[in-house]
Amino acid sequence: DGAKHPLTGIAKVMLHFKTLCGLDVNPSKSEIFFGGYSDIQREVLSALQDFIIASEAIRAHYTPLPSDIILASFPKTGTTWLKALTSSILRHSSTLTSSSSSNDLDNLNPHEVVPFLEIEMFGENPLKDITEISSPRVFSTHLPLSFLPETVKTSGCRVIYITRHPADTFVSLWHLYNNKFGTEISIRQAFDEFCKGLAPAGPYFEHVLEFWEARDRVMFVTYEDLKANPEETVRRIAEFLGCKIIVEKIVKECSFEKLRNTSKERGEGVHWSGTKYDMFFRKGVVGDWKNHLTQEMMKELEDLADLKWRGSGLDL
Ligand code: A3P
Repeated sequence: DGAKHPLTGIAKVMLHFKTLCGLDVNPSKSEIFFGGYSDIQREVLSALQDFIIASEAIRAHYTPLPSDIILASFPKTGTTWLKALTSSILRHSSTLTSSSSSNDLDNLNPHEVVPFLEIEMFGENPLKDITEISSPRVFSTHLPLSFLPETVKTSGCRVIYITRHPADTFVSLWHLYNNKFGTEISIRQAFDEFCKGLAPAGPYFEHVLEFWEARDRVMFVTYEDLKANPEETVRRIAEFLGCKIIVEKIVKECSFEKLRNTSKERGEGVHWSGTKYDMFFRKGVVGDWKNHLTQEMMKELEDLADLKWRGSGLDL
């Protein structure tokens, strides 16, 4: 019974899935694979189940330090870019001497530089000892805020949330599904699942809203602002992190072309969590939804945004 789950946020999401999607969110692994679900439903249920388990480990064993930096996002909103920018800022900052981000973006994919709390940190080993990681520790997460420990809001650690217009987020996710499943799935079917909230990190609108409501503690960055004026956004991030940098150098080091080429050079065989590194760099533009979504689909997203975000100050 989702309502009895000790984590109210998780209970909320479980109930959301049950009522809105008509799906049991707690099936066994074999049921997920043989239970007659579609490819997307299988992918999402499997990811959600892993996230719930990792979330419990994170809540039990992760104590954020005031110096920790957490990069939070819904998938396909610019996570990879934010990871690159943050590690580049820390690496080039003249106000920081030692940092865990002395890794080189010339050779590594940003996902190798900044690990996910729910994957490399506590997903693979719930009891992982992270005390040895040098400060500032930089982690990322796709988990909804309510899946994270309360101390994320109270420890003084810095949280940066990147978000993106749902239409472009969805189109990027749909391409990822197509790539992963090796076949083009119906965009209408994928869109309906997305609108119902069936996505690997839970429902999009609630994900954004949870972080938005904590914005006195969370720095908000949008993919669109980054595209329109990367220098300004990078300056804001650096200020938030207390770093002194040469902005243009960071923007150049993290450009779409530069990061994509590094990952391409790594070759086809390199995978991260079942995803080829160069799959994190597809088109990298604002408004690709116009090539894929109908006006009616856009209207559906606008209506959803209106319904779910009304009164919050968020809009499309
Ligand atoms: P598209 O599929 O629209 O091209 P995430 O990192 O959260 O998985 O998001 C991936 C999206 O960010 C993809 O969008 C990808 O192309 C885009 N992206 C990755 N790195 C980028 C960069 N340096 N500049 C602009 N967009 C980038």
